Amino acid sequence: MNTLRFSLDRQGEQSLSEQIRSSIAEAIRQGHLYEGARLPSWRDLAAQLGVSRGTIKTAYDRLSDDQLVISKGAAGTFVSFVLPAAPKVVAGASRLPLPDIYQDVDSAPKLFQVGVPAQEGFPFKHWSRIVLRCSRQAVAEPLRYPDPRGELVLRKEIAAYLAVARGLLCSADQIIITNGYAGALGLALHMLRLDSEQVWIEDPGYPLTRHALSLAGYTPVPVQVDDQGICVEQGIALAADARLAIVTPSQQAPLGVQLSLARRQALLAWAKANAGWIIEDDYLSELQLSGQATPALASLDREGRVIHIGTFSKTISPRLRLGFMVVPMRLSERAGDTAAALSPASALSSQLAVAEFLRDGHYLRHIRRMKRLYIQRRDALLALMGTSVSLNNMAGLSLLLTLADDADDVHLAEAAKAFGLAPAPLSPWYATQINARKGLLLGVTNLSSPELEEGYQQLAALVAPHRQYQ
Ligand SMILES: Cc1ncc(COP(=O)(O)O)c(C=O)c1O
Repeated sequence: MNTLRFSLDRQGEQSLSEQIRSSIAEAIRQGHLYEGARLPSWRDLAAQLGVSRGTIKTAYDRLSDDQLVISKGAAGTFVSFVLPAAPKVVAGASRLPLPDIYQDVDSAPKLFQVGVPAQEGFPFKHWSRIVLRCSRQAVAEPLRYPDPRGELVLRKEIAAYLAVARGLLCSADQIIITNGYAGALGLALHMLRLDSEQVWIEDPGYPLTRHALSLAGYTPVPVQVDDQGICVEQGIALAADARLAIVTPSQQAPLGVQLSLARRQALLAWAKANAGWIIEDDYLSELQLSGQATPALASLDREGRVIHIGTFSKTISPRLRLGFMVVPMRLSERAGDTAAALSPASALSSQLAVAEFLRDGHYLRHIRRMKRLYIQRRDALLALMGTSVSLNNMAGLSLLLTLADDADDVHLAEAAKAFGLAPAPLSPWYATQINARKGLLLGVTNLSSPELEEGYQQLAALVAPHRQYQ
């Protein structure tokens, strides 16, 4: 009902009940009140508008006579239908935000879908029990404002986890709980108050980072990624004045390359010399399928120039929308103030649940199990593909199928949808299409055996004329 505006004319000729009736009827016709929406109770609306309950009842009875609403006794009064002539609420409102990233928010992950954990690998029963218990605990808490940086229990557990799993030593005071990576990035951009518009990003790199910078008024400077990660020298040549670099050092997104030690040192030296900052997007944490996960870049940072961002989107669920940011000690107060003013941590029950999951060792066990599952799935896919691909084609949790330079990978990915497949095209990860490599990223997390073989054969036939063998 927030969209309803009642401007009652108490001296007017029309009765108050008629004015209320016509305001609601208009809101229904305009589509602001959708079919099935619940109207406020007589008592609530009467109190809100300063009229008698009888006035509201008369208005509702008339709406009911007109068949615009239906009364369901104690359950309330509901909008019964929207007139066919009702115009759309807002033109274009049905488009998903950033459609190149959020292509489908309604259906379950499909074969080859990238960026989502295994549906079957999720510990539903166990997780639901924890969530239930923590929801009860959250409801029983006193009704006061919580710490805007996030619950201390969770921040302490994350600090302990980072020390063990990512080689990163920090205190709970340096950690801010955020709405995933995206939330942390927004917070970091507000907090840093950069005096240069230019920001280095990896090319290819995560499209959301590029969008975020442009929306925040910065100029993303795409810096090439080679087999050692981001080319720091090129960054310096292209934008020496930049004060921020955003990188995925552990497993470059999307190519999967690890940032070499030499490049890590070069990047840290650049930040030190230029009073610059580095945002480390550690989106996969230790979820690495071959070899040992490298320690976080922040673990090498002696000058306090790295802001480390982690997320539970890949390791637990993207639906949680929970992540964290670890800031150098000297930024911790400013980070806390910025979070408090602009984006305080939310959903106490989820925070408590993740804290319990971490504390009782379930998180590490879950990651271990997922790694095993993903390795099995990756190997099943490699076996199907034969000798044309190898482990070298792995890119994070995806396998990169390289296509010829003149292939239209966006079109091929679209065509694959007809078979219920969801590979991701590589070229949109590049900032400009001139030097974009073409390919399809095949996520290995959601490959279940009954459908894998058939799905792969369909994809193989689709891309056969465009394959490029390396
Ligand atoms: C490079 C990269 N960073 C971060 C994320 C996760 O972001 P969030 O925590 O906002 O879900 C993703 C998800 O696909 C990603 O690919």
